[in-house]
Amino acid sequence: MTSDEHNVKPTDLRGILKYVPMFREHVFVLALDGSLVAHENFQNVLLDIAVLRSLNIKVVLVHGVGQQLKALAKQKQTAISDPHGELKTDAVTLELATEAAAVVSLEIMQGLTRNGLRCATCNGVRSKEIGMVKGEDQLNSGAVDKLDDVLFNKLLDTDTIPVITPIAFSREGTPLRINSDLLASELASKLNASKLIYMTTQDGLQINDQPLTNLPVANLEGLLKSATEQIPERLLSKVEHSVKAINAGTPRAHILDGRLFGALLNEIFDKVGIGTMVYSNDYQSIRRAVTADAHSIYNITQNGVRAESLRERSQESIEATIADYLVYEIDGSIVACVNLKIYDSGDIAEIGSVYVQAFYQNKGVGRKMVEFACAEAQERGSKRAIAMTTQASKFFSKVCAFEEGTINDLPAERREDYAQNGRNSKVLYLDL
Ligand SMILES: CC(C)(COP(=O)(O)OP(=O)(O)OC[C@H]1O[C@@H](n2cnc3c(N)ncnc32)[C@H](O)[C@@H]1OP(=O)(O)O)[C@@H](O)C(=O)NCCC(=O)NCCS
Repeated sequence: MTSDEHNVKPTDLRGILKYVPMFREHVFVLALDGSLVAHENFQNVLLDIAVLRSLNIKVVLVHGVGQQLKALAKQKQTAISDPHGELKTDAVTLELATEAAAVVSLEIMQGLTRNGLRCATCNGVRSKEIGMVKGEDQLNSGAVDKLDDVLFNKLLDTDTIPVITPIAFSREGTPLRINSDLLASELASKLNASKLIYMTTQDGLQINDQPLTNLPVANLEGLLKSATEQIPERLLSKVEHSVKAINAGTPRAHILDGRLFGALLNEIFDKVGIGTMVYSNDYQSIRRAVTADAHSIYNITQNGVRAESLRERSQESIEATIADYLVYEIDGSIVACVNLKIYDSGDIAEIGSVYVQAFYQNKGVGRKMVEFACAEAQERGSKRAIAMTTQASKFFSKVCAFEEGTINDLPAERREDYAQNGRNSKVLYLDL
């Protein structure tokens, strides 16, 4: 398929604005293949990066040099040991890779400059020799020895995009070639990035002709073990390093065809996305409630009832609707709950009684519960989630991307109760 055949529209401004508070000040590590820097759509990728910066997202750019290295080798009629930095690097290859890295990073910096963005290259990556692998000397191939997070954070805090090349110096100042996929993955973990985004010039991951748009890391690990042959060769290293980054704490990794117009913004700001998103199993602490949980749910929600943030529900009524509750458990204790009620029409689901015990608040538990409940509602066929809240409307709108609605957004059967209960809650909704 050519890039023209699957051009997509960039996400509209309204769609983007909804996500702005969610990602403000977050770090995104973008790994650009050398072939993408050489591609005609690269100018649009730079524009997308400018949009991310204008939304106060901190961007780190790592680039590869595979295509440029191959071109240099061809031009100089020289044989190289490996264009992609995945195998050993002999002296000639290192020399050409260094030349290619200078060209690519200057090109990126020129593009960023044209878009009014501040950027810098630096020696924040210290390398070490890989040495022997299976008895074979990897020569000038390197691994990451140390990442200078103080330097990177200073650059990011002064609105500067670090541009990282795949050639890094060892403690002694020896240049070594590092695989750019690995570099990006290690940077994402060291800088606590929310996203690691690999941008390639390949179609996204597909298995049996089905594009993989959204999958938990465990599924990708399974694929790596049992169906490696189905992963295109040039995506294998990205898949492996996505898994590594997620297992080291990066919540999301994306593999994206950068030839598509607006790919980056669509992937980040559109519910569906157009690449492959891999996510960590954030939700392992969430489970459906059982009758034995009714007492704990009643107890933890009593504080919310006293503060008038939650509506009074007796333990009996909780028991009677226990199948509608989800709970968040830590070390065998319930620390949070949410009620998910699907209305008769099936199209609308109400998210209610969200409560996180005070000690666990502000640690992302509430957001995960709401996201989980929305995903569950969607799985059960609902098109819209609604919430009514007296004290947490900003939590729903700023943290969970809900929009403010009116009483008219409620299902008819809920409107009457709303009018009579006198709580004057704000109505919020999220289209699923
Ligand atoms: C609202 C509640 C569920 C949020 O859960 P949480 O685990 O603390 O929230 P998270 O850690 O996922 O999110 C934290 C973010 O939410 C914001 N937030 C939390 N409660 C908020 C509130 N009541 N109003 C506005 N913002 C709020 C925090 O400021 C923080 O913002 P930041 O990420 O920009 O710093 C929890 O505070 C709670 O149980 N509150 C009392 C009960 C309640 O009001 N429930 C809603 C009834 S439907």
